[in-house]
Amino acid sequence: VSNDPTGRISRRDALRGAGLITGALAVASPAGAVRYAFHAPHQSGVVTPVQDHLILAAFDVTGSHPQLRETLRTWTTAAQRLVEGEPVASDRSPVYPPADTGETIGLGAAGLTLTFGFGPSLFTERLGLAQRRPRALIDLPHFAGDRLDPGRCGGDLVVQACANDPVVAFHAVRNLARLSEGTLALRWLQRGDGRTSSTSSREQTPRNLLGFKDGTANLDARDTEAMRRHVWVGESDQPWMSGGTYLVARRIRVRVEAWSALSLETQQAAIGRFRASGAPLSGRRERDPLRLDAYGPYGTPLIATNAHVRVASAKENHGAVILRRGFNFVDGLDPRTGELDAGLMFICYQNDPAHQFVTLQSRLSELDALSTYTVHTGSAIFACPPGVARGASLDDAVFG
Ligand code: HEM
Repeated sequence: VSNDPTGRISRRDALRGAGLITGALAVASPAGAVRYAFHAPHQSGVVTPVQDHLILAAFDVTGSHPQLRETLRTWTTAAQRLVEGEPVASDRSPVYPPADTGETIGLGAAGLTLTFGFGPSLFTERLGLAQRRPRALIDLPHFAGDRLDPGRCGGDLVVQACANDPVVAFHAVRNLARLSEGTLALRWLQRGDGRTSSTSSREQTPRNLLGFKDGTANLDARDTEAMRRHVWVGESDQPWMSGGTYLVARRIRVRVEAWSALSLETQQAAIGRFRASGAPLSGRRERDPLRLDAYGPYGTPLIATNAHVRVASAKENHGAVILRRGFNFVDGLDPRTGELDAGLMFICYQNDPAHQFVTLQSRLSELDALSTYTVHTGSAIFACPPGVARGASLDDAVFG
C-alpha cells in the first residue's frame, strides 16, 4: 500500500495493495486502515498480502455437536464484525460485562484477516463428523529430528489472525475464545511478529531471524493460475472443501546463537543464497533463477548439495511447491539453557499436503544443512474451508 502526498493511503492504492485481484475485497477507511471483506469466495489470510503480526490459536472441542454448531455461528457473526474493525458485539446494558474486551477501540481494522480451519481430530464419531474428513487432511508423519512438544501440536480447530497491529490480532483471538467458552478450549497459541515470507514479487523481501531474505522464490499469491494449481482445492472427496486449502504449521526453533557464530560463507552455503542481496550463489541478482547444475572452478556445485534452497526446490521434489506465509517468533528464554527461544512460525498453504509439505519436509529433515540449527517443536495441520458466503455460516461447510 503506497501513500499519497497527504500521507493518507488512497482508496485505489489500498485496493491494489490489499490484493483485490485475489477476490477478497479490501477497502481503506478514512483513517487509512486496510479492511478486508469477510464474505469472499476464498477465506482471507491465504493469498491476501502478508501482514506484520500473527496470532495462531488452536482449540479443542469440549462441548457437544449442537454447541459446536452454535459457537461456529456465533464466530461467523463475530468474525465479520472484527475484520470490519467493529467491536465483537454491541453492549446490552452496563450491568453486564462489556461485550467486547475493549483494547482495540479506535485502532480500526488494521488489515485484520481471520482464517479458520479444522484439524484431523475434529472428525470423530462423538461429534458426528467421522464421515466428513477429507482424504487430503492426513495425519502428519514423524520427520527426522522432530522434537515436538505435545502442548504445541494438533488441535480440533485453528484461528489464524493476522493484522498490521499486534493488539488487533490478539484481540480477535481473545474475543473469539471468550465467545466459545464451554464449547472450545484453547490448546495452544503462538504469536509471531515480522512476516518472514513475501508472497508477491512486488513487495520488498523481508528477512528472517537468520538475517536472510525469505520469500524470494515463494509462490506469488497474485498468480491466480498458480494458486488454482497449488493452493486452492479443486474437486475433493469432500465437496465442502472445494475452494478451500490446507494449512500446515510448524513451530521451528532456530539456534540463533550458534547460527550467528558461523562464518558468512558457511551461512550462505547452508542457505544457497548471498545474505546481502538474496541472490542465489549461482547468480547475481535476487530474482535470478537457481542454477542447480552450475559448478565452481574445483568442480563443486555453486549451490551445495545440502543447501536449503536446493533441497527445498521444486526441481528436486517432483515439482512440489507451497505458499509460505510464516512469521518470526521470540518467546523469551529456554529455562534449561538460557538460550533464546526464537525462530520461525512456519505456515504454508497447499491443496495436497501429502505431496507438497510432506514431500518437502521429508527431504529437508534428512538433507538440509539448515537443520543443524533448527528444531521443530510444534506441528499441526488443518483443512480450511472456502470463504463464507453471505447469509451462510462457518459450520455449514463441515456439518453440511
Ligand atoms: C527455520 C526454518 C527455515 C528457515 C530459516 C528458512 C529460510 C529460507 C530462506 C532464507 C530461503 C531462501 C529465500 C526464499 O526463496 O524464500 C528459503 C527458501 C525456501 N524454503 Fe525455507 N526456511 C525454513 C524452513 C522451511 C521449511 C520447513 C520448508 C518446507 C517444508 C521450507 C521451504 C522452502 C522453499 C520451498 C524454499 C524455496 C526454494 C527454491 O528456491 O525453490 N523452508 N527458506
